[in-house]
Amino acid sequence: MGFSTDCIHAGNAPDPTTGAVAVPIYQTSTYVQEALGKHKGWEYARTQNPTRAALEENLAVLEGGAGARAFASGMAAITAISTLTKAGDHVVCSNMTYGGTYRYFTKILARYGVTFSFVDTASAADVERAIRPETRMLHLETPTNPTMRLCDIAALSELAHRNGAVVVVDNTFASPYLQKPLALGADIVMHSTTKFLNGHSDSVGGAAIAKSKEHVEWLSFVQNSSGAILSPMDSWLVLRGIKTLAVRMERHETNGRAVAERLAKHPKVRKVNYPGLSSHPQHALAKKQMSGFGAMISFELGSFENASAFLARVRLCSLGESLGGVETLISHPATMTHASIPEEERERLGVTAGLVRISVGIEDVADIIADLEQALEAVR
Ligand SMILES: Cc1ncc(COP(=O)(O)O)c(C=O)c1O
Repeated sequence: MGFSTDCIHAGNAPDPTTGAVAVPIYQTSTYVQEALGKHKGWEYARTQNPTRAALEENLAVLEGGAGARAFASGMAAITAISTLTKAGDHVVCSNMTYGGTYRYFTKILARYGVTFSFVDTASAADVERAIRPETRMLHLETPTNPTMRLCDIAALSELAHRNGAVVVVDNTFASPYLQKPLALGADIVMHSTTKFLNGHSDSVGGAAIAKSKEHVEWLSFVQNSSGAILSPMDSWLVLRGIKTLAVRMERHETNGRAVAERLAKHPKVRKVNYPGLSSHPQHALAKKQMSGFGAMISFELGSFENASAFLARVRLCSLGESLGGVETLISHPATMTHASIPEEERERLGVTAGLVRISVGIEDVADIIADLEQALEAVR
């Protein structure tokens, strides 16, 4: 089936008991068993829940995996995936990954004897140099948050596999509508479903989708053993959000391009990071690897004072963490999402005090542009 059809129908079979078109929210902690060892395949809701199972089936189809597992947040999904490593193992990771991922790897997982190299994954040579005999995982984020750098999933997967490492791609920014990491060679895709998949800024969740049955089995075991499951209500919200993923992404894409082009021409904006602009250093890779460029843009206003004056003046665009909702969300990575990265490192990576990130929503684009333009008047 086509992508839009899968968004609506995959995992969404009518309820067998009533015929309900929408998968019910199975808000239960357990299931009655007929006799010892005789049950309908559902025993305890940490282990299995029909609403969560419907979402997992849907996600597996959208990403082209053997199976998917849904977790309580994007970070819970990353935590579950990271159990594929053990003490003594080494992980190569994008140096411009989401701040929370960096914090989890360096402040928590490192305490358990896993070591990390954070490199510019836009350069295959840098990744190759970082690989060691004990490298077991390559964690990629493309496009990266918030500088919108890309990495070549196919080339890096080939390189990692040659060296015995598992390739994990955080596909949160692109969504499966724009990018299919498993088809490009990755082993596991993860999402913060909080973002484009849910799409309505009303749920926090995460998912891991694996290409191989073995990885799905391990993720199921971890999901049940460590217990960071997605609730039935959140599973339902994400499942419902995904039904409109294709149409939302289409509008996000049109609006994103228009906003990026307008910002690129604005005299107060020093630089725009958006893979859809021909000025983006990896525009060609974006065209090859993605089917569109999305709605995430970051732009440079030159100083903290400019960024804060601009952010104080936006009216339609909401100042807040997160992204991927129907509403335009705007943020200041250096003091918000990326505050956990040391300042020197942040500046070196381009997450400067003057950098603003925008997640372009699906409002009328003229209204979004008018709001940005009036707020840019506050910039010197
Ligand atoms: C790219 C990316 N990955 C992972 C996460 C973590 O997801 P969550 O906030 O759902 O735990 C985020 C959150 O902003 C993100 O932007």
